Amino acid sequence: MKKYTYLLFLLFSIASFSQKFEGLAPTPPMGWNSWNTFETNIDEKLIKETADILVSSGMKEVGYNYIVLDDGWMAKERDVNGNLVPDPIKFPSGLKNLIDYVHSKGLKFGLYNCAGTKTCGGYPGTRGFEYQDARFYASLNIDYLKYDWCNTEGINAKEAYTTMSIALKTAGKPIIFSMCEWGDNQPWNFGKPIANLWRISGDIYPCYDCEFSHGSWSSWGFFKIAEMRKDIRQFSGPDHWNDFDMLEVGDGMTLEEDKSHFALWCLLASPLIAGNDLRKMTPQTLKTLTNKELIAINQDALGIQGFKYSEENGIAIWVKPLENGDWAISFFNKSSTEKEINFNWKQNTIVDEINNLSTSFDKLNYSVRDIWNAKNLKNTKDIFNAKLKSHDVITLRLNKP
Ligand code: GLA
Repeated sequence: MKKYTYLLFLLFSIASFSQKFEGLAPTPPMGWNSWNTFETNIDEKLIKETADILVSSGMKEVGYNYIVLDDGWMAKERDVNGNLVPDPIKFPSGLKNLIDYVHSKGLKFGLYNCAGTKTCGGYPGTRGFEYQDARFYASLNIDYLKYDWCNTEGINAKEAYTTMSIALKTAGKPIIFSMCEWGDNQPWNFGKPIANLWRISGDIYPCYDCEFSHGSWSSWGFFKIAEMRKDIRQFSGPDHWNDFDMLEVGDGMTLEEDKSHFALWCLLASPLIAGNDLRKMTPQTLKTLTNKELIAINQDALGIQGFKYSEENGIAIWVKPLENGDWAISFFNKSSTEKEINFNWKQNTIVDEINNLSTSFDKLNYSVRDIWNAKNLKNTKDIFNAKLKSHDVITLRLNKP
């Protein structure tokens, strides 16, 4: 009996150690966020149209279900009681009405705020109002909170994010908690009990691997972000994801670059939050964003973040272990010229040391599927040959026999 009491006590301690709402993001969250295209130029017409297109385009069907309003949804001041005020000009029918509309389409709704005194755009921040704001979000029935890190001089990141996480839990409405602290304080070291995802870098920029300077800070091309942090993949997994930032697919890069960006985000098990103007999306952009087999790699139940296997002569090979012993493997041409790939499976053993997994091309003959073209190729007995344009990618799924 004593043994069982001890066991119960132990289980209770483990359960109460986790502060966040558990189980809200068993696979990387998918959706749309207003920032990358619209910055603070948002209003109810845009959000309603976006919600409509998420459904009518088929994006919802393949998994994009969160609509997140980023910075700029508030009036510049709190009211006399210290409550946040949704901007009445941008949302003349009221924010609650808009949220109900989004919910009525079978979608979920997210908002943005900041741990500091003001948001990055200069709107009221949450510092000192954590519990009051959490009650407000619960009363609006939101499902997701992105919580940024501007104007936080002198405060401790772990404490600030823990406070907001406890405030959300206390308010009682299950809300995904997305920390956006740019990786400055290594959120992967303290994020798991308090948040469902956390940004690992500064802001993304729609380019392959450039650094775009804003003076005192920079935005980064998607390959720069993918390679920015070393040794953090073990911190990402179901319900606690490394967030490589919102997608820039459809925001001005070439088709090859968009395909590479999307494939890389899928291999990294990053949240897939589109950031383009859905109202002007080309069929090509929609095709990239809704590639079901790539999304299946991103949403794989193991939730393992992929990693770079090798890089030689301009070709980077990234891999991701999947359920049932399958693997995803992408060949990226990072160079400025066309390249030919000749990959001899048998001469390679891919090892994921953290998860103790490896390929066995010497013993097993995996079947090989070209994901983008939805075409079965041969198998891993044969050498894989392909030609890749500059900045293009080819992603294969290796199915274990
Ligand atoms: C920061 C975040 C962005 C966006 C803006 C809004 O830069 O990293 O993703 O939320 O703030 O001001």
